[in-house]
Amino acid sequence: MSSAPTAFVAALRDELAGVLGLLPDERRQVVAGREFWVGHLHGQEVVVTLSGIGKVAAATTAALLTDRFRARRIVFTGVAGGLGPGVRVGDVVLARSLLQHDMDASPLFPRHEVPGYDRSRFETDGHLADALEQACMRMLGTLPQRLDTAAVVAYGLHAPRLHQGLLVSGDRFVATTAESQALQNELPEALAVEMEGAAFAQVCHDFGVPLAVVRTISDRADDDAHVDFPR
Ligand code: ADE
Repeated sequence: MSSAPTAFVAALRDELAGVLGLLPDERRQVVAGREFWVGHLHGQEVVVTLSGIGKVAAATTAALLTDRFRARRIVFTGVAGGLGPGVRVGDVVLARSLLQHDMDASPLFPRHEVPGYDRSRFETDGHLADALEQACMRMLGTLPQRLDTAAVVAYGLHAPRLHQGLLVSGDRFVATTAESQALQNELPEALAVEMEGAAFAQVCHDFGVPLAVVRTISDRADDDAHVDFPR
């Protein structure tokens, strides 16, 4: 690889299939059991990979992207479970900060604080998030013309909105209304929950690499999540 690429990452292949389909010249490399596709997108050097599910798999992937593949910035995408009121299936959540909702070294440290970092929240990169905000607004603005009506009805979609703020991550697929409610009570600002973003944010903080995380809402992290997520 000649210079520092932009990295695009998702947990699952389905979440990144569209991006992979756009790379005309990707070369596949396998490192630590992960596939990395190195190539060009719109003339820019990119590296695309799947993190796998959960914070440990995500942290390994983030470290490889920064140290081995020399990523100069990272965009993480995929789906998330909506938590905040009004964050509905089909909406988009752009993270401005991330937190590990299952981090708990209390009473030694405050709940959610990452020991050694003196903080619970890790910010995403302002410039990268602003650029993604513009891209999301353009995409959502033209979506009504592109959404096929059968899909709108079948998936119970509406006019999708962009939400920005706190995204929380943990090593649990949140699939009960009780757990979702408990998370909302504990972290009222949390817009959505997923399983990798905050791990990426901590590793990117360590390496000084700009990160953005943008997720589409697949479910409401409630008793129907196991049905809505695969749909
Ligand atoms: N990703 C998408 N939906 C999720 C959920 N309900 N819990 C955790 N991660 C998710």
